[in-house]
Amino acid sequence: MEDTPIVTSNGLNQSPASPEAGDAVLEIWGKHPLSGHVAISGAKNSALVVLAGTVLSSQPCRLRNIPNLMDVGRMAQVLEALGVKVTRNGSTLDIDPSDISHTRAPYDLVSRLRASFFVIGPLLARMGVARIPLPGGCAIGARPVELHVRGLQALGADVHIDHGTVHASIPGSRRRLQGAKIYLDYPSVGATETLMMAATLAEGETIIDNAAQEPEVADLANFCRAMGARIRGVGTKTLTIAGVPNLHGTDYAIIPDRIEAGTFLVAGAITQSEISLSPVIPEQLGAVIAKLREAGSQVVVETPNRVRLLPGREIHATDIQTLPYPGFPTDMQAQFMALMTLSNGSSMFTETVFENRLRHVAEFNRMGANIRLNGNCAIVQGVPVLSGAPVVATDLRASAALVLAGLAAQGKTVMAGVQHLDRGYEQLEQKLVKLGAHIERVTGDSLPQGAATPASVAFPRG
Ligand code: UD1
Repeated sequence: MEDTPIVTSNGLNQSPASPEAGDAVLEIWGKHPLSGHVAISGAKNSALVVLAGTVLSSQPCRLRNIPNLMDVGRMAQVLEALGVKVTRNGSTLDIDPSDISHTRAPYDLVSRLRASFFVIGPLLARMGVARIPLPGGCAIGARPVELHVRGLQALGADVHIDHGTVHASIPGSRRRLQGAKIYLDYPSVGATETLMMAATLAEGETIIDNAAQEPEVADLANFCRAMGARIRGVGTKTLTIAGVPNLHGTDYAIIPDRIEAGTFLVAGAITQSEISLSPVIPEQLGAVIAKLREAGSQVVVETPNRVRLLPGREIHATDIQTLPYPGFPTDMQAQFMALMTLSNGSSMFTETVFENRLRHVAEFNRMGANIRLNGNCAIVQGVPVLSGAPVVATDLRASAALVLAGLAAQGKTVMAGVQHLDRGYEQLEQKLVKLGAHIERVTGDSLPQGAATPASVAFPRG
């Protein structure tokens, strides 16, 4: 179902890169050195939530630096189902949310992209009602939404769940949500974004305490401010939002993708290659750069938006614990584990953000890695060499991590589950090939007998 091609007129990537992408595999021939420069795309997670945020505006918005990804195409489809007009021209999206005609998001779209649940906040605030199906779990965890729901209730909404759909409405004759003091039990990225967006159009002041501080949350806040929202404390744990009656159109460029940048930095470190990246915002890569340095690479900040990786002679073992920002990002855990499989010692990975995000361990071990799992921890004993093998990507970041391992392995790696890569990386293969990697996307039955096939992979929803 995920790979059904969808033909649309708006120029968005709503189907896999090729009609056969569901069956495609990547063939990666390892041990080819990389060199050169990588152009980093706009941040997927900013693009998704900023697209949802356009629903707050009663006028057209222009969004720039939007990556052409399956997930972005799906979010655009959700908006179109609400009556929003979306047109793509290169990396620029023109969004006209002036005539929203529906307040119900279709289940088949929300179930394929968890982030599309985030339209609940802006839709409720602007239209007074929103009916959004529960997104369900995904390959990396159950991912509940009770923090979103409780926060909307605190803002005065009536919220109930019926037949798998969250029904939210502003009760009585009131037309606006009411400002409130909200404390989040956990600094959830999505809940912070949902509630911040909802509060921009509320009556009075909202304070969100223990808010997520991820750069994509700050990007969304800056986008809302560009539409006329009044938000203080952007980038901190406490957001203060003074509600306004309406928001206007704007022209806004989103930040570069720090996870794509981190993935390429690890590509340099794992292949012992010198590469540079731009545009990036180096401070948003703080934990990743610190860990790369501990692992023996040099990362040089050449200009305010350009970094260069100079690999070390060997990869030093270092422990990783995933945490909310500014801690080490869970979205970089799998890629770093690929690096540590080739380290000179033993490293401990502790995944604290998602409960089921270590499924790539079994695939690394197929390639000759030595990793033991213990609950949410993985103990990685470095090995001198990985060997190419048939592997299956289980989620988006695992797919990138397996490509990285394949680049460093001896011989050929054949990776199934390529559709995960297409969800969240803009032209990863093409960018790597430009650096000198030997990668080819092929369709058909290249997997050997007995190896897992793409059909056996549970796909994530956001
Ligand atoms: C976002 C990112 C994702 C990233 C994650 C953590 C997008 C589209 N996705 O996901 O790439 O990995 O942040 O940095 O921006 N939780 C609850 N109850 C809730 C909400 C969340 O228990 O109501 C839990 C989740 O199950 C998870 C943890 O909180 O274990 C973190 O989730 P959250 O920060 O909300 O991540 P997302 O916004 O879904």
